[in-house]
Amino acid sequence: MDRETIGTDRVRLRLFRDSDIDNLMAGCNDSLTRRFLPHLSAPYTEADAHWWISEGTTGVWARGGAAYAIADPVTDRLIGGIGVDHVVLARCQGEVGYWVAPWARGRGVATAATRALADRALSQGFARLELLTEQENVASQRVALASGFRREGTRRDAGTRPDGSRHDLLAWSRLATDADTPQARILADLPGGALTDGVVTLRPLTAADGDFVYDLHCLPDVIAASMSTVAPTRADVARRCLLAPARWLAGERADLLILDAASGDPAGEIALYLQESQPGEAMIGYAVAPQWRGYGYPGRATRLLARWVFDHTGIQRLTAGTAPTNLRSQRALEKSGFQREGRERGRLVGSTGRRVDALRYGLLPQDLDLDSR
Ligand SMILES: CC(C)(COP(=O)(O)OP(=O)(O)OC[C@H]1O[C@@H](n2cnc3c(N)ncnc32)[C@H](O)[C@@H]1OP(=O)(O)O)[C@@H](O)C(=O)NCCC(=O)NCCS
Repeated sequence: MDRETIGTDRVRLRLFRDSDIDNLMAGCNDSLTRRFLPHLSAPYTEADAHWWISEGTTGVWARGGAAYAIADPVTDRLIGGIGVDHVVLARCQGEVGYWVAPWARGRGVATAATRALADRALSQGFARLELLTEQENVASQRVALASGFRREGTRRDAGTRPDGSRHDLLAWSRLATDADTPQARILADLPGGALTDGVVTLRPLTAADGDFVYDLHCLPDVIAASMSTVAPTRADVARRCLLAPARWLAGERADLLILDAASGDPAGEIALYLQESQPGEAMIGYAVAPQWRGYGYPGRATRLLARWVFDHTGIQRLTAGTAPTNLRSQRALEKSGFQREGRERGRLVGSTGRRVDALRYGLLPQDLDLDSR
């Protein structure tokens, strides 16, 4: 790649210079930068910044990659770094990496820089650019999607930490032949971040919800109504909550907390599960904590979620299954407009390990409309 400055209305990608040292040190000593770029030296000293500007970047360029400073286009102040490294010349392939200083985050800097660099690299001989993100790094995954990178899958244990531990990385790529437009998402963000009917509010699950969700899923009747016969471990639940935003972004599933709208207290959980084998269809499942039962919350939550699904995603059929003995859940589904479609023999595994039947329900957009008249 040539070393020309790349200018857009939001960012200027230029070579690093000695006057960047203070801002480079501040950006690379920030806790979020360190969390997701764990191999930066700790602490990141003036000597480290000097080395990067004089030798580190020279090495990246010499390997056929790129190492740009992201600068504010008006003030020229350093606001981040971006580059292409791990170049495989024979495959015309390289890996994009970036960071943005804390004082410049959340205003499209990373997205503008990544789009600009990818456009340049893909027009100068690169056929394929890769981007690797941690599963928890949702901001970076959003940058990847908005910059036209497509999610390819999970690289198992591809990431390493200074203590020697390993972890999975999500792999994204953009090809020279791909359109330079943002990748479409199956599951949009909720408008304003939540859905409410004034009685219940639904909002995406986060890592902070682990304790509530764990207690909920350890209740014997919740275990009995799930596809599993044993209580989850605290670690399983914590991981599910931690990864929920990435799974939503990937269009795999949407996990939401049901809150009592008046108090804001957590009352239950509802989830939407998508399967590649059933395009245009998704399954829902829910659970409500004992103290919030009897108020019609699962039916309200289901209706709210279904309305959003039908209006804002390509999904036009929802399904749900319940044990034949779970009369409460059947009532909640029917109140939401779901129609009973049949009995699936041996669909669930009961507490004794014996397979038990499930009642199958389905909801189409017109069922919801009919029901709300
Ligand atoms: C990832 C990073 C570069 C993003 O920089 P940025 O300039 O804030 O990014 P942008 O403003 O272009 O976009 C960020 C997106 O993430 C979202 N976002 C920001 N913080 C978030 C968070 N904590 N959780 C979820 N989403 C978040 C923003 O809303 C925005 O999404 P949108 O465009 O769909 O609204 C920055 O957070 C950073 O430097 N992190 C540490 C280093 C790092 O992670 N590098 C990448 C390694 S793969």
